[in-house]
Amino acid sequence: QEDIFKNVISHAKEYGFIFPSSEIYDGLSAVYDYAQNGVELKKNIREYWWKSMVQMHDNIVGIDASIFMHPTTWKASGHIDAFSDPLIDNKDSKKRYRADVLIEDYAEKINIKAQKEIEKAKNRFGDAFNEEEFVTTNERVKGYLEQKNQILQRLARSLENDDLADVKSLIEELGIACPDSGSKNWTEVRQFNLMFATKIGASADTAMDLYLRPETAQGIFVNFLNVQKTGRMKIPFGIAQTGKAFRNEIVARQFIFRMREFEQMEMQFFVKPGEEMKYYEFWKETRLKWHLSLGLGKENYRFHDHEKLAHYANAAADIEFDFPFGFKELEGIHSRTDFDLKAHEEYSGKKLQFFDNETNSSYVPYVVETSVGLDRMFLAVFSKALQEETLEDGSVRTVLRLPSVLAPTKAAILPLIKKDGLPEVAKEIIEELKWDFNVSYDEKDAVGRRYRRQDALGTPFCITIDHQTLEDKTVTIRHRDSMQQDRVAITELREIINNEVSM
Ligand code: GAP
Repeated sequence: QEDIFKNVISHAKEYGFIFPSSEIYDGLSAVYDYAQNGVELKKNIREYWWKSMVQMHDNIVGIDASIFMHPTTWKASGHIDAFSDPLIDNKDSKKRYRADVLIEDYAEKINIKAQKEIEKAKNRFGDAFNEEEFVTTNERVKGYLEQKNQILQRLARSLENDDLADVKSLIEELGIACPDSGSKNWTEVRQFNLMFATKIGASADTAMDLYLRPETAQGIFVNFLNVQKTGRMKIPFGIAQTGKAFRNEIVARQFIFRMREFEQMEMQFFVKPGEEMKYYEFWKETRLKWHLSLGLGKENYRFHDHEKLAHYANAAADIEFDFPFGFKELEGIHSRTDFDLKAHEEYSGKKLQFFDNETNSSYVPYVVETSVGLDRMFLAVFSKALQEETLEDGSVRTVLRLPSVLAPTKAAILPLIKKDGLPEVAKEIIEELKWDFNVSYDEKDAVGRRYRRQDALGTPFCITIDHQTLEDKTVTIRHRDSMQQDRVAITELREIINNEVSM
């Protein structure tokens, strides 16, 4: 698995999808740049989301709010007081850790021991194996699982009670942690706010503290009434937005999975109080269907219903995806009650209520939110699409089986050789197609090598111009996944491509 992940990262760089930020200065931790192909793939994912959420729903509209917001926004939303991670430093190694992650990693190690025992027994007993019975009767496995649960329960309890001293004791008792194994020289655990602060205004007297938004959602909440009134929206209705968010993440590993600057695609759906559960279930199913529509495989997704809820939620679930490092959160669906709108009413002194013509009364709507990270979507799609295939002749080809609708380039136009007027015909075809599709031109190397390069870039079609083209205006069209080649008329190209790549 580690090798697969390394391969994903190096492929992303080698083929112009993702570069480390400011790489000539040795990069910046957990910050990445999207390169020439990555920016196209990212844009196509964003458009695929926008089309399905905004264009396809007549009761959902979009906005694009600013990254900077009035600082009171974050007081009202709870981010100033509660958006933090518990940190601990090891004085010997001078390394900083997220205390909860240290403990969770430790619990996971115990869990892995239990799972290994279960696997072994499964292989030994074959069909006769009853996992449930084994787990409850085998003393060793039972012990591991109980220990894991106790650790996690104690962690949850301590965090809930804000008992950071107990979090530290737990770390010491467990003798954690991996790189600092056995070390007892820890600092106290303290809460570290994840928001990036900056200042607006030039003069020292009038400058105001600002934060870079840690979620896009608040831009929607503060605009709720503006959109509802000017758009004459009736409840239930939604407001969607895509845009950058910033978090000073402590555990900044796992490539673009957890970044300090990232992009979210969020939608807040405003409903009548009491109807939120119906819409919560509706959006859970609708969002899962959206993911499945990309065809990456049903087995790669699962729901994780939260038992421990954030301060604003009365129900929450994640859609998890099987990333190269295991199942992890890809999207969150949250029933946020009226927490945010009520808080903004209180802090701003302005009413944020919907006037219901039918009952002649006003109320603060409840909100069901869907929130997916664009970069995480990118990683999900890219890592599953990247495959190595052994061909009939024994050679290996690397192919990026991206859903065609998301592919950065839809077709590569390739003259078989660089003379006899073939490049000119290729360029005429590009002139034809470029109005509708992102297409590219390549004349370097033998055509077989050019095919392989396009496979690695995820291009669904290669179109080759040869001498026969000059006689009968036909070309060869090669399909990325099957590698099948067909002879077709130039005039048919647009329709063939369109059938495959349109949303
Ligand atoms: N408005 C709700 C909200 O922000 P969240 O669970 O904190 O909820 C939603 O974030 C989604 O944003 C996550 O499911 C994930 O896909 C993405 N996300 C969060 N933090 C991220 C980070 N540091 N890097 C990349 N994506 C992130």
